[in-house]
Parts: sequence; C-alpha cells; structure tokens
Amino acid sequence: MVLALLDAGEKVIVLDDLSTGFRWLVPEAAKFIIGDVGDAALVDAILAEHEIDAIAHFAAKIVVPESIGDPLRYYLNNTAKARNLLECAVRGKIKHFIFSSTAAVYGEPPVTPIDETFPLAPINPYGRSKLMTEWMLKDAAKAHGLKFAILRYFNVAGADPKGRLGQSSQSMPNATHLIKVAVQAALGLRPGLEVFGTDYPTRDGTCIRDYIQVSDLVAAHLMALDYLRKGGESLICNCGYGRGVSVLEVVDAVKRVSGADFKVRISGRRPGDPASLVAGTKRIKAVLGWTPEYDNLPTIVGQALEWERQLRNKSITGEPAGANSLACDAV
Ligand code: UFG
Repeated sequence: MVLALLDAGEKVIVLDDLSTGFRWLVPEAAKFIIGDVGDAALVDAILAEHEIDAIAHFAAKIVVPESIGDPLRYYLNNTAKARNLLECAVRGKIKHFIFSSTAAVYGEPPVTPIDETFPLAPINPYGRSKLMTEWMLKDAAKAHGLKFAILRYFNVAGADPKGRLGQSSQSMPNATHLIKVAVQAALGLRPGLEVFGTDYPTRDGTCIRDYIQVSDLVAAHLMALDYLRKGGESLICNCGYGRGVSVLEVVDAVKRVSGADFKVRISGRRPGDPASLVAGTKRIKAVLGWTPEYDNLPTIVGQALEWERQLRNKSITGEPAGANSLACDAV
C-alpha cells in the first residue's frame, strides 16, 4: 500500500512498531515513525503535525491459531489499540478511515460464496477481535461524521510483481500461512509441509480458501480511498476473487511451479479453521469498479516463490540487498 500510494504521488507516513516487520523494508520516500497505534500521545502528535486526510489501519495480529492460544493479546492489539487509534482519528478530524478486516468475521458460513450481508459469527478470537473494531468504526463514523471503508480480506497471497516486496517474517518458524510455508518447503528451507485436516466437507477433504494476490488487494484500497474522497458513502466489502482453492490444490500448484517434490504430511485439523471461505465479489466490483489483474494461482505462487528466493539470498535479518521494499506483515 505504501509503494502504491507513493507511486500515485501521495505523501505517506508509516507508523509501525516493527514487532513483525523490518525498518529496511520501508521505502525512503515515506516518512517512518517507529511507535504504537495504541500510544495516544504519539498518534495525536503525528496528526497535529501533518495534514492527514486518511488513515489506513493495517496494524494487527493475523494468525488464527495464535489468537486461540493468546486471545487477550489479540483483543489488546486488534481491538483495544484500534479503539485508541479511532479516538485519535476523531479528535484529529480525520475524514477517511480504511480498515483491514477479514473473512474470519463470517465464521463458518453454511454456503459460499459469502456476500457482505451474511451473518457475522466469527469462530475464533482473531475474527472476533476484528469484528469488534468494525462495530466501533461504524458507531464512531455515525457519531462523528467519519467515512470508512471496511475491507474484508480473504487469504492474501503472492508478492509485488516487480519483486520489491513480499510477505516477510522475523524468523522462519514464525511463518504460518499456507503458500509461504509451501514455498519454503519447495526451496528446502523447511523439511516439508503439514496438511491440517483432510476430513472437511469439501471436494478433497481439505479446507478451501479464496487466495487474493496482494497487489490486487492494494488496488482495492486505492480505489476505496478515491471513492471516499469523491464523497462516497461508508462501505464494507469483501476482497477476494470469488473462487476457492483447496489446501491440496495449493500444494500441487507449488510443486508444479517450483518443480520441487517436497514432503507432505497429513495431520489433524487445526483449531479455528472454517471449512470453506470464498468471497462474494459483486459489491467490490459494482461500487469500486475493481477488477483483478492476477487472478491465477500459478502466477501468485510464482511471485511468492520469487520473493522467498530473494529473502533466502539476502538473509532477512541482515542488511538489505535492495532498498525499496516494504514488509507485508499486516494482512
Ligand atoms: N494450512 C495447512 N498447513 C499449513 C498452513 C496452513 O494445511 O502449514 C491450511 C490451514 O489449515 C487452512 C489453510 O491452509 O485450512 C489456510 O491457512 P492460512 O494459515 O494460510 O490462512 P487462514 O485461512 O487461517 O487465515 C488467513 C489469514 C487471516 C484471514 C483469513 C481469512 O491469516 O488473517 O485468512 O480467510 F482472516
């Protein structure tokens, strides 16, 4: 998002506590402030010092099983700190607020694709922590005239097509997302991959997800910002392709694209995983005029693989080999 905003000629200020990201991944052209969105004095000072018309709030914990083991950390980070940021936004008279929400707010939907009017019934603390922020945002917007775009991400994947950035984690065992784990296995960076459950009511028994390429997702943010600036009403929309892929289909795609036949072990279900999440995409297309550019699993896998090779080649905790990159750790 920072790269895309800069490419579009916007001025950008990044506030990040670097708990999961890297300073060297933030482009030089953006002003960088290390800090916490939960620090009201800091956020107030930033808003007072600069002319800011929009906040895009990405700062969140995003790992479903981690949220089950440590729910209060999720409610602190994703809910309480978001409340703080919102209060500062209201005080600072910010006009537009873009919020990274999640498909996890729908819980275990009985049918797919899911449209935005489906019941909201999250089945894990991660989804609940985000849903509470949606509610706060709606209430605050109504009371204080703020306009918002709540974007419910399905499964974010891939990397910048220009190879400038991709999903990065502080150390390899921290990576938990399927495509990232699979490409690490393909590159021999981990011994193999575990498939969490083959007894779901899906076509091959494994979970189905709607993987959306990160630049397509970023494009939706830019369009939402433009829409709000032109006077559009507050908006909630799904971000996905409307097409589901199973865990085994992802594994197969990674094997084919990489040419590596890594080990796959079938194990039991992972707590908190719904069987199938596929986005209804009518609204995002109708309201924002969004059309995806990278709706192709082998392309997405190829980008993830390329980024993982770059990380491997430059040792991600050391100095960067190239300057212009941004950690994508808040999806
Ligand atoms: N999976 C495996 N093996 C792995 C990793 C994942 O089998 O090593 C499976 C999971 O069990 C799940 C699927 O692959 O069925 C996708 O899992 P991810 O961890 O990649 O992603 P999640 O669907 O759990 O969650 C992601 C984001 C959330 C977001 C959600 C919405 O982490 O922020 O998608 O669908 F809300």
